[in-house]
Amino acid sequence: MALPAADVDPTMCDIPLTCPQITLDTLPRCSFQQRVRSHYHAFWYHLGERFAWSRGAYRERPVRQLSQLSGIQQARIASLQRRFRVGFEQQAEQSTALKQYDYLEVLERTWSALGLPYSVGGAVQDMGSSNFWYAAALHAFFQPSELVGVEVEGYRIYTNGYSRLDYAHGYIQNLPHTQFIVGDYAGYDRPADVVTAWYPFVTPDPVLAWRMPLSVLTPHALFSRVARNLTPHGLFVMVNQGRDESAIAAAWCEKVGLVRYGSYEVRTLLRSRRPAVVSCWTSAHASHTTPCQN
Ligand SMILES: C[S@@+](CC[C@H](N)C(=O)[O-])C[C@H]1O[C@@H](n2cnc3c(N)ncnc32)[C@H](O)[C@@H]1O
Repeated sequence: MALPAADVDPTMCDIPLTCPQITLDTLPRCSFQQRVRSHYHAFWYHLGERFAWSRGAYRERPVRQLSQLSGIQQARIASLQRRFRVGFEQQAEQSTALKQYDYLEVLERTWSALGLPYSVGGAVQDMGSSNFWYAAALHAFFQPSELVGVEVEGYRIYTNGYSRLDYAHGYIQNLPHTQFIVGDYAGYDRPADVVTAWYPFVTPDPVLAWRMPLSVLTPHALFSRVARNLTPHGLFVMVNQGRDESAIAAAWCEKVGLVRYGSYEVRTLLRSRRPAVVSCWTSAHASHTTPCQN
């Protein structure tokens, strides 16, 4: 992806680049209660890994027509549909389709705020994809020549007996050149023009809230892998929940040598949730870009 020299409005770069109170050398201390919960989640996580359960691709029943939307939601969705020629509701249930439009809007508004070029093609990797329900949104936005979602807990089983892998196979079924890989992104060694990470773990509480063991809290290994996989003109797009989490994640990115291009706080109207903070990073050898200064 050829990036313009950053002519970003510095007010967009609203996350402090350095945060002295963040200590990155050691993992945060965890309470006894957190460690007990972590052991409990570890049991189920390793059981899932061992059985690698799959019932075959699970396809959602498409809602076809979205309903009960506010006027603002209808207008935003219509605009995204025109611009990206998508109709997520033709493949997905209402709740999934709304979330897909929401992620698409987060990307679209970030690109427009930061003046990033809309490029087509290239290898796009998504790290920590869950069941890759948003693959269609990434596909519509980046129009990649290759899209890969990598998820370490791909064999988590839902109450209907299908696993994340089964759902992922359903979600990517009609997307050309798209794969879902169950594995640790830290060990995924392939070049990428774009790497996306939606809500990567950088603190213990979200790990436990996602019913995962604290052993998966490995930001240094993950961000180092991003830095190694990115091509010289590549872009890392990270989405965090709120400014505090974003500052911690940003500190990890800087530690592994990534260079911030810009960041933007996005409030979308499609779903009620905390604003997403999106930051874009290049590898240190992308000398043609002028990183954000503040
Ligand atoms: C907060 S969840 C976000 C899921 C998804 N990106 C989304 O927006 O819905 C973080 C995800 O990262 C996955 N993950 C954590 N460590 C990982 C690793 N080393 N490699 C791949 N996936 C990982 C977790 O299992 C979890 O599904």
